[in-house]
Amino acid sequence: MPFARVDGIRLVYDVYGQGVPVLWIHGFPLGRWLWDPQVRALADGVRSITVDLRGFGGSSAPEGPYTMEQFAADLRGLMDALGIERAVLAGLSMGGYIAFAFYAAYPERVRGLILADTRHQADTPEARANRYALIDRIRQEGPRAAVEAFLPRLLGATTQRERPDLVEALRRKMMANPAVGLIGALQAMAERPDRTALLPTIRVPTRILVGEEDVVTPPEVAQEMAAGIPGARLVQIPRAGHLANLEAPDAFNEAVRAFLSEVGGA
Ligand code: MLT
Repeated sequence: MPFARVDGIRLVYDVYGQGVPVLWIHGFPLGRWLWDPQVRALADGVRSITVDLRGFGGSSAPEGPYTMEQFAADLRGLMDALGIERAVLAGLSMGGYIAFAFYAAYPERVRGLILADTRHQADTPEARANRYALIDRIRQEGPRAAVEAFLPRLLGATTQRERPDLVEALRRKMMANPAVGLIGALQAMAERPDRTALLPTIRVPTRILVGEEDVVTPPEVAQEMAAGIPGARLVQIPRAGHLANLEAPDAFNEAVRAFLSEVGGA
């Protein structure tokens, strides 16, 4: 497993394919495996970098709290370690929150943005309180509490009905994240800033993707985000929920390919 030392921690990553560099940023409580349906299918034309964020999978899990800015700094450190000056950032959900933090801090390192099943707003007071309640449960019950809280909402109704295999595979993979990392990331999400004011300042090509059945970051939010970013276009993925890239990889990959050919990559 290749890894980079960044800011005193170990980040496990993979690089696959040839072409325009795309740094794929996973959501919560997931890992770099999230992007398996993308990296191979897009290998002809895309140099994919996937990484376990701090606190997840095989990467170091120092004590939190984490912040979106810290996650973004880790990714910039990884790009430095790999000699990548500019990349397209593709973030799903929490990965999108991190992509916003990255763009806010290092816009010159960003060639384009793919924002999948994510949102620009901060947590509502109720959502924030739910995160801290879940942190308490994870402290008592371990990572299983996070899996139980998130799994039922991540997959769309079609996948839940037709793909029990995917539901079970996801449960197993989600269990592999340590409690300390889950807690650190929940704190980071609870305290993340609102990015509404950032949207009109985004100057790189942007594509927004959302599963039509996403109940976590629904299509209405994606429409608002697309309207706020100059030139951004929205693609809705049928028969998919919050993990649109896993649930409907063909449609997702086609949208990514079309975007990258416009950016001048694939
Ligand atoms: C994610 O998929 O990363 C999370 O559902 C995001 C969130 O809880 O806000």
